[in-house]
Amino acid sequence: MYEHHSPTAESRGGAARRAPRPPHAVCETGGPEARRELDLREHCVLVVGGAGYVGSVMAGRLLRHGARVRVLDALVYRNGFALRHLLEEPKFSFIKGDFVDPPTVKGALEGVSDVILLASLVGDPICKRYPDLAVQANVNASKQLFDMLEATPVERFVFASTCSNYGIHLGNEPAPEGAPLNPQSLYAETKIEVENFILQRAHSVAFAPTVLRIATAYGMSPRMRFDLTVSHFTWALAAGVGLTVYDADTWRPYCHVRDISKAFMSVLCQDRERVRGEVYNVGENQQQFTKRMIVDEARRHLERVDVRYMSGDTDPRNYRVCFDKISRELGFACDHSVQDYVPRLIEARRQGAFSSSEVERAGNYELSAIA
Ligand SMILES: NC(=O)c1ccc[n+]([C@@H]2O[C@H](COP(=O)([O-])OP(=O)(O)OC[C@H]3O[C@@H](n4cnc5c(N)ncnc54)[C@H](O)[C@@H]3O)[C@@H](O)[C@H]2O)c1
Repeated sequence: MYEHHSPTAESRGGAARRAPRPPHAVCETGGPEARRELDLREHCVLVVGGAGYVGSVMAGRLLRHGARVRVLDALVYRNGFALRHLLEEPKFSFIKGDFVDPPTVKGALEGVSDVILLASLVGDPICKRYPDLAVQANVNASKQLFDMLEATPVERFVFASTCSNYGIHLGNEPAPEGAPLNPQSLYAETKIEVENFILQRAHSVAFAPTVLRIATAYGMSPRMRFDLTVSHFTWALAAGVGLTVYDADTWRPYCHVRDISKAFMSVLCQDRERVRGEVYNVGENQQQFTKRMIVDEARRHLERVDVRYMSGDTDPRNYRVCFDKISRELGFACDHSVQDYVPRLIEARRQGAFSSSEVERAGNYELSAIA
């Protein structure tokens, strides 16, 4: 266990409540009616899986907004480097541990006001490669964590699910939260099983659970993932290594890791009864693209691209999603766009911000613990 700071009852109020407003705890854009202030000074947030691609960005942003933050992560990709920049922050602490293990979770929950669950085997390929571990972590440990919260004073629980649950959703109307789920992989099946478990119990537990179905992520993170479409395509095209794109005209929504973090923080800032048992799609209606559109976006910034289109991939997913609910009810809007990110990543490569060998390893390919 590597614990820099042990959150105490103080972090739930007391000194934390009276602390002067830090200059960095500012507003983030909030949406149509009002700009919501994401003031998290009264929160002590446990981020399970907080050393990952999304979590290492989220942990930093929670701190910026005044929260105390504790990360529990098993570092299954040897990804401890993703938290180095936070280890000296006074309101941050890190526990290296497996959330499958109840005593580890019990210790991590001490003094916590909110829990965000990101940890799982993320993505179709890694779940396919390690199916037993995927079920153990994504399903069993997630349900167990939920059950353990009942014995704590935790106030909110936010579960990271995925828009992949819609699987194949064709037709003119994008999928709202009530649309039928159509999983195309073990990964989506595990997420749906936990969603159902949470939603069935949402009104009989003291804490308020919320499910966020996240669009495919992009953006810079201390733990980059180049196995996700936007970064993968952009890097390969910029590096000129030759990119094969399967089923180029299939749709997917995208969301920047910073905007994903903002969505979780928006939930933490709500009156908890408002978000109890709610499911929100996280993304923006205008940020949905086919794979071909992502290639074309990169093409705009490159002299030539080496791309080959093929059909018949093993990934049949094809869906567009409706993000009206999170905009209407939480005032959420994205601050970032794929159009802004693609040239930034191309420039980052030009400037040598990533080495090719680093990029090759930066994805969910192999688990370190059993490698
Ligand atoms: N990245 C995306 O495009 C995307 C899209 C939709 C939903 N999500 C969801 O967001 C969450 C985070 O995704 P990500 O891209 O950051 O994934 P990631 O793989 O980068 O991060 C997952 C983290 O969980 C940790 N972890 C895995 N098993 C663990 C265990 N048993 N105990 C403790 N820690 C464990 C890993 O070490 C890693 O740091 C996931 O729940 C994912 O399903 C992600």
